Amino acid sequence: MLSGVPKLVVFLFSCCHVALAARVCIGQNISATDMSDVPYLFEMAKEPPCTHVIGDIFIMNLTDIELPVEIYRSVRKIYGSIIVINNTNIHTPIHFPSLRVINATVLPAITAFKNRNVMVSVGPRFKKAISEQKHGITFAVVHNLNFVIDTDQYNLWWLAGYPNGRFLLDSGLMASVCDENLFKPIAGILGWLFVALALGFSTVAFYDRPTMKKQKQE
Ligand SMILES: *[C@@H]1O[C@H](CO)[C@@H](O)[C@H](O)[C@H]1NC(C)=O
Ligand SMILES: *[C@@H]1O[C@H](CO)[C@@H](O)[C@H](O)[C@H]1NC(C)=O
Ligand SMILES: *[C@@H]1O[C@H](CO)[C@@H](O)[C@H](O)[C@H]1NC(C)=O
Ligand SMILES: *[C@@H]1O[C@H](CO)[C@@H](O)[C@H](O)[C@H]1NC(C)=O
Repeated sequence: MLSGVPKLVVFLFSCCHVALAARVCIGQNISATDMSDVPYLFEMAKEPPCTHVIGDIFIMNLTDIELPVEIYRSVRKIYGSIIVINNTNIHTPIHFPSLRVINATVLPAITAFKNRNVMVSVGPRFKKAISEQKHGITFAVVHNLNFVIDTDQYNLWWLAGYPNGRFLLDSGLMASVCDENLFKPIAGILGWLFVALALGFSTVAFYDRPTMKKQKQE
């Protein structure tokens, strides 16, 4: 039987033990820039999960593949960027459930460019995204097909970037041009509106089609 004080000690020990269990990884070690890197990611998945990442995480040139996305499960802080470029049909959503901070340098905190059927998302603890990108772009999501940012994600990204965060978005769903000067002060608001509108449209577009097919079959 544990009395109150040892219980507290046990609690403190387990809490702080967890807090201290940090593992720093190099971004390159959890990146894949072509298909031949993927087996290495599966090797990484057997190691203790990374909590802090130094350097960019690249996911590039992959086609029709499942990634061991659990390697991103514990990542809390990235000193670099998340860069997802030129991928087609990544069957596992690329999700960073524990991510709190992205501190990026020359590139936006998150870039998704020229992907088709790829998902990138963060968890609810995402609190800060900063980038020293020279045009001040914090998130760039352009030239993707079927890349969905729902309003929850959009809000998380927006709040993490606040007050200096800027979006560069199109992605078929949304079009908010964050051009120098003109759009700067209203980009955030416009972006929100565009997403809300675009989500309305895409919901109709996505959900209408199967219904129509069904009706035809009947
Ligand atoms: C990154 O991978 C290399 C081998 O490819 C390994 O030697 C190194 O320890 C790894 N670094 C980290 C921080 O995981
Ligand atoms: C992967 O993408 C990079 C950047 O777009 C490119 O330089 C490289 O040649 C590509 N690799 C392959 C194997 O396609
Ligand atoms: C995009 O990825 C494919 C492989 O999926 C590769 O053949 C092609 O060279 C890449 N394109 C660029 C611009 O890197
Ligand atoms: C981000 O990184 C820079 C150095 O690259 C550092 O000066 C700054 O304090 C960091 N900010 C946060 C919030 O970690």
